[in-house]
Amino acid sequence: MAIILGIESSCDETSASICIDGFIKSNVIATQAIHAKYGGVVPELASRAHQQNIIPTIDQAIVQAKITKNDVDAVAFTRGPGLLGSLLVGTSFAKSFALARNIPLIEVNHMQAHILAHFIDDPKPSFPFLCLTVSGGHTQIVLVKDYFEMELIGQTLDDAAGEAFDKTAKILNLPYPGGPLIDKYGQLGDPNSFQLPEPKIADLNFSFSGLKTAILYLVQDEVKKNPNFLDERLHDICASVQQRIVTILLNKVKKAAKLTGVKDIAIAGGVSANSGLRTALLEMGEKYKWNVFIPKFEYCTDNAAMIAIAGYQKYLKGDFVGQDIAPLARMAVNI
Ligand code: KG4
Ligand code: ZN
Repeated sequence: MAIILGIESSCDETSASICIDGFIKSNVIATQAIHAKYGGVVPELASRAHQQNIIPTIDQAIVQAKITKNDVDAVAFTRGPGLLGSLLVGTSFAKSFALARNIPLIEVNHMQAHILAHFIDDPKPSFPFLCLTVSGGHTQIVLVKDYFEMELIGQTLDDAAGEAFDKTAKILNLPYPGGPLIDKYGQLGDPNSFQLPEPKIADLNFSFSGLKTAILYLVQDEVKKNPNFLDERLHDICASVQQRIVTILLNKVKKAAKLTGVKDIAIAGGVSANSGLRTALLEMGEKYKWNVFIPKFEYCTDNAAMIAIAGYQKYLKGDFVGQDIAPLARMAVNI
């Protein structure tokens, strides 16, 4: 039997999870509300909140899994990418825990873990599969050849998809993180109300900065004509923005599927919680006869279950690290 404690602290969620023989028994997430009033994550505040949250979060994960600290066989933690101060809290805790109990320590790449969240529940994709990873910091199309053998075949040249949602939300005077709110209000609006541009990029890369500027100009022009524009048309503008971001993302997925011939298509990361993206991907999957894999909501945004499941796969391979391991703010998906 293998019991893995997974710890995630790369951004603004402190999370701990227990995985027993490949099954997730608990996944506790402490969300840091403090950032909302600043319109984005404040790194210094994030690391302080991680320090406050980490012990109660881990205690709760252990209690919910009905085990004790002594039962843990290995500890897996997010090494990167992420905010260095935040990563340091999880890394230091994991190192001390492993040292005190004399158990193996496992480093996990956060971007790989988002993808490996698909191995938590059935049905699981088979290798090779394509994964569109869309979060606040990343937008990537990854060809997943094996658990830890991943090839980056497309990525954003500027803003990430989550950033496009969050920055648009800011223009619309919505609080951070705006992605879920655009999703909520967009469901009540007409996605064809406003025509927004699709960037002309020939390869599998993305760009969202032009879209953000187009939205800013559109809102400025409309508000000049009608000061109540944002109140009156919020639902329609959210629906239009969401539809445009989803079509930008899925047109590239379609292209990647065609180029690689791969039919197992997955999405991962915070933006994979988006209802428009989930529905449109399912429809596309039916049309093109793909096997589509969409994570449960709790495994889309940052969570430690994905760290624990990735850690479990490394545990099976005996892939451990020493106490000299340090977190990395930048970390490619293929290392
Ligand atoms: O993966 P994640 O939790 O953290 C990072 O590693 O970045 O992703 C967070 C991002 C934020 O930009 C948030 O606005 C976005 O995911 N997000 C959504 C939705 N839920 C979260 N974007 C659009 N629609 C949603 N329902
Ligand atoms: Zn993430």
